[in-house]
Amino acid sequence: MSQLLLLNGPNLNLLGSREPGVYGAATLAQIETELAAEASTLGHQLSSFQSNHEGALVDRIQQARREGVAGIIINAGAYTHTSIAIRDALLAVALPYVEVHLSNVHARETFRHQSYLSDKAIGVIVGFGPKGYRLSLLALHEHLAAL
Ligand code: DQA
Repeated sequence: MSQLLLLNGPNLNLLGSREPGVYGAATLAQIETELAAEASTLGHQLSSFQSNHEGALVDRIQQARREGVAGIIINAGAYTHTSIAIRDALLAVALPYVEVHLSNVHARETFRHQSYLSDKAIGVIVGFGPKGYRLSLLALHEHLAAL
């Protein structure tokens, strides 16, 4: 049994009402609840954290290491494309992470094609809507099981 952490960045608290044609109808609370249940069937305990603030996300990543979290699923939202600080925090704690995006960022504006997180992630899941979080959990679970 591992402790896992789901991190969501700016504006993802608005899921359900935010551009539903792009991001789907599910709320973040629904996604978090379903993912925690799925994690527990896989034998893990999943905590969730969302913030619109870069430093709060950095603090939560640092805290994860102290708590003994084994792996992270992260949708950093727009910080994906801008945040060296979040990249550095993930590298500092040296925890395996899966990067997830609801939308297919590669089919959108070119500024969304760049990620500061992808090259150090176990893998990246994009374009599957809320289901992408479940796919990320499965990928993280299998990665940890193989360690
Ligand atoms: C997003 C994609 C980002 O480009 C955007 O800024 C978001 C959401 C996604 O899940 O598709 O906030 O990370």
